[in-house]
Amino acid sequence: MALDGRIETAMIEALALAQSGVAPPKLGAALPYAVFPGGARIRPTILVSVALACGDDRPGLTNAAAASLELIHCASLVHDDLPAFDSADLRRGKATVHRAFSEPLAVLTGDSLIVLAFELLARAGADVPDRALRLVSHLAMRTGMPFGICAGQGWESEAKVNLSAYHRAKTGALFMAATQMGAIAAGQDAEPWEELGARIGEAFQVADDLKDALMSSEDMGKPAGQDAVHNRPSAVAELGVSGAVRHLKDILGGAIASIPSCPGEAMLAQMVRAYAEKMTPARLTSARG
Ligand code: IPE
Ligand code: IPE
Ligand code: MG
Ligand code: MG
Repeated sequence: MALDGRIETAMIEALALAQSGVAPPKLGAALPYAVFPGGARIRPTILVSVALACGDDRPGLTNAAAASLELIHCASLVHDDLPAFDSADLRRGKATVHRAFSEPLAVLTGDSLIVLAFELLARAGADVPDRALRLVSHLAMRTGMPFGICAGQGWESEAKVNLSAYHRAKTGALFMAATQMGAIAAGQDAEPWEELGARIGEAFQVADDLKDALMSSEDMGKPAGQDAVHNRPSAVAELGVSGAVRHLKDILGGAIASIPSCPGEAMLAQMVRAYAEKMTPARLTSARG
């Protein structure tokens, strides 16, 4: 995709801020290990696409917003893989950070990436402080308590889980951040963009359930079949494979209908359609996710 280079450059520039000759070398190496090579980079891709659809009149701020969001996502994966959470050995096809470095360094890597995300937005704000402030508070809301990833992960420590609050916070929050921060970076209102993010997040959750059930650990680069092993609620367990695929397409149809009117509306609809086409069982099992 054409946006790939733009996003990787933003990520490289962001990580450079965390490097110094006086920094502890192992932690200095663990940070880029957690970020490169990336996964699908789907959240920053959506963020930049929405900003472009809205005119992208401050591309530097858009880049900082995209990188900050992906840094939060990478941090969440590092913490999620720790023995205290999912105790996973494999992420993006290689050893997880605590396996490759150590548990203390994995905790610190996640912490450092979260702090770096906010530093990046603060630094980018010199030019357009009002937008940068809105980006900071939006990213904080989608990361922490009571609506963000922290809340989502927190539900896993409860005996009784509110499933929709759990999914909305754990997975949906960063997709809502993607559409809304894209709009904010381009000087638009965030509110009309929440529904699109929520719907893409919901679809992503179903797609993730399908991948977990259908793909091999080797093709996904992380442990497969985890929903069945941990007896987690999943769209595949509830609806079967073809039911889950139908559900996914329905959600994405709703996502297209929810795109706010803007100059790049048609381009965004095409992006969602292309994503839906990738999410068929045949495509999932024949290509890396
Ligand atoms: C994995 O997200 C974590 C979930 C929320 C299920 P991605 O599938 O976007 O992971 P990467 O960034 O592509 O590795
Ligand atoms: C991890 O969620 C993503 C976070 C929100 C931290 P999962 O545990 O469900 O995803 P994978 O399977 O490890 O990527
Ligand atoms: Mg988890
Ligand atoms: Mg996990």
